[in-house]
Amino acid sequence: MSDNNVSEVNFDRGLACRLAPALRMLYSCDGMATVSFFPDIEFFISSIADNSQDFWLTFKSDDDVESASSSYVKTYGCVPESVVVHGLGAFKIKKSTKSGRLAGKIAIVTGGAQGFGKGIAESMAAEGACIAVADLNLEGAMVCARELNAVFGEDTAIAVQVDVSDEASASNMVQETVLSFGGLDILVSNAGILIAGSLSDLSIDKFELVTKVNYTGYFLCAKHASEPMKIQHSIAPDYLMDIIEINSKSGLEGSNKNFAYAGSKFGGIGLTQSFAMELVEYGIKVNAICPGNLLDGPLWADPEHGLFKQYLDSGKVEGAKTIEDVRKFYEAKVPMGRGCAIPDVTRAILYVVEQKYETGQAIPVTGGQVMLR
Ligand SMILES: NC(=O)c1ccc[n+]([C@@H]2O[C@H](COP(=O)([O-])OP(=O)(O)OC[C@H]3O[C@@H](n4cnc5c(N)ncnc54)[C@H](O)[C@@H]3O)[C@@H](O)[C@H]2O)c1
Repeated sequence: MSDNNVSEVNFDRGLACRLAPALRMLYSCDGMATVSFFPDIEFFISSIADNSQDFWLTFKSDDDVESASSSYVKTYGCVPESVVVHGLGAFKIKKSTKSGRLAGKIAIVTGGAQGFGKGIAESMAAEGACIAVADLNLEGAMVCARELNAVFGEDTAIAVQVDVSDEASASNMVQETVLSFGGLDILVSNAGILIAGSLSDLSIDKFELVTKVNYTGYFLCAKHASEPMKIQHSIAPDYLMDIIEINSKSGLEGSNKNFAYAGSKFGGIGLTQSFAMELVEYGIKVNAICPGNLLDGPLWADPEHGLFKQYLDSGKVEGAKTIEDVRKFYEAKVPMGRGCAIPDVTRAILYVVEQKYETGQAIPVTGGQVMLR
């Protein structure tokens, strides 16, 4: 998907990122198309098998894309599959052949290199979505994207390095996604960190780091992700899109000696409700999913740094002699008797995307451990 050499050539990225989502929705108002951008027109021509210009639309960068496209449709009776913009580059539009409950959707999953994020990326790809696997850990994101392409077909996934707490990096993540796939339908804001500590122990640096990644990072990703979504809405007003924060049960109930994390997650729910109000007029739903503990994920189960090991070593769980004792203690807190698993969260994501009449909600997925009041 990223053989369009966007990183090697200078071009007006902002303009290309505004045109691609518009072209995608003009081609298919239900989003069943991808658009890839080629800044080098010569390279583009050499890379396509059939370079007949029958389905080409050529226009200047200050022409109105909507009226240029509709006069093309009037003349040729079909939408163009290649669009060349003088002074900018070329767009290749492809009908999506994906199937599944998320067929044709374009999604970003932040923190997609491991844990919940990786599992969410895999299950969304299995349901027909194209995925930008975005993570601070580029190598991990590349491994995940390669696996998705091998299982679900080339052009399913790209890897993007991102620090969600840095605005330029969050903006670049959205641009890379739009230049590779042509738009954006679902942001899963999943990247998050947990640094526990009591009031007497936790330093301001650690507090601020947790806040920056979990709270500010969600703001920055939502801010930049909503831009291509608004463009898609302007062309296809009935099309619905989603911003989904992977929050936590600690966003619904305080967490002892873990206030930096719980505070950032409670704040995430305030952002979710407020973004939902602001973005509803653009067809963008905004919801948070609040999972219980993913006891089989690396955060808990990593043999060296995982929370089971940390809690065993620190004596947090009274009487626990082994990691298994710590695990049993946490499982016993859940009415359904087990930790949260990735399919539990995937079901909630599919519900949120398919539901056309809900926004601004925080959905617990906790096996009954936290109940809404
Ligand atoms: N693990 C749990 O028990 C649990 C429970 C409820 C909610 N959650 C939430 O689920 C989300 C994922 O948690 P997880 O357990 O899978 O975590 P994890 O530590 O296994 O994975 C987090 C991923 O985020 C990436 N990341 C960290 N900081 C980043 C940054 N600044 N920019 C981009 N990527 C960054 C990491 O490289 C990593 O790949 C988090 O938001 C977390 O709060 C986790």
